[in-house]
Amino acid sequence: MPTDQAISAAPLGAPMRRTEPDARTPRLPEYLRKTYTWAYLHPLALRIFDRPSIVSAILWGNYHRLMDTALAEVAPGQSALQTACVYGDFSPRLAARLGPEGRLDLIDVAPIQIDNARRKLAPYPTAHLTVCDATAPPPGPYDRVICFFLLHEVPEDYKARIVDAVLTRVGPGGRAVFVDYHRPTTWHPLRPVMWAVFRLLEPFAMALWQHTIRDYATNAERFTWRTETLFGGLYQKTVATPRIADTA
Ligand SMILES: C[S@@+](CC[C@H](N)C(=O)[O-])C[C@H]1O[C@@H](n2cnc3c(N)ncnc32)[C@H](O)[C@@H]1O
Repeated sequence: MPTDQAISAAPLGAPMRRTEPDARTPRLPEYLRKTYTWAYLHPLALRIFDRPSIVSAILWGNYHRLMDTALAEVAPGQSALQTACVYGDFSPRLAARLGPEGRLDLIDVAPIQIDNARRKLAPYPTAHLTVCDATAPPPGPYDRVICFFLLHEVPEDYKARIVDAVLTRVGPGGRAVFVDYHRPTTWHPLRPVMWAVFRLLEPFAMALWQHTIRDYATNAERFTWRTETLFGGLYQKTVATPRIADTA
């Protein structure tokens, strides 16, 4: 079992507490070490990238729209699982949206990311952070499971395992919410740019131009699926809701 680290209300600007790995800490996946050390595992990366302005630039100015569309699926008082840390202020906004009666469980496989998110979530005592792989998240069940820009960064077998894990953590009447890349329309002016970015930096992202998120689910028929695309199809929000017969 991973370590559950409830956040105490540490003052903002307090020195970052380090999560020391122990026998329960999951191993860092090889793809993460090989492909994304520069982006997520190096301390300098956090200092460079963890700014809303940088995230907004990476998302071509769509950051707030994308956050808002995810938050529109969430209501105060709910329990939510976020399956990986993200740069910027999405997690604090999610915790604020869930409110004092809600609960946010935030997981990430990288201890350095959990330490960083703990600092950002310090004002929210309802947020709980755990070093944990998204293929084996806490059991829940949750009202909302939110997978925000994780799938495009993991290999195909991980995509399938994460989608299945996410779906099994959704409680009766709950929803899984995936926000991620999607195949842009043929005429999209950024299509060749994104193709090049994926070729150079994001080798697992192009698969989301070829597959729906539903394609990765073993028991897709047990859910109803709704997809909205944004910004000429470059981004998607896909929501999976358990069918009534399975939640009765
Ligand atoms: C959510 S993704 C990318 C989000 C987006 N590019 C951003 O603005 O940060 C980045 C995070 O996913 C985490 N991650 C990658 N594979 C994971 C896995 N199997 N389980 C949990 N977290 C994972 C990384 O450690 C990293 O913190």
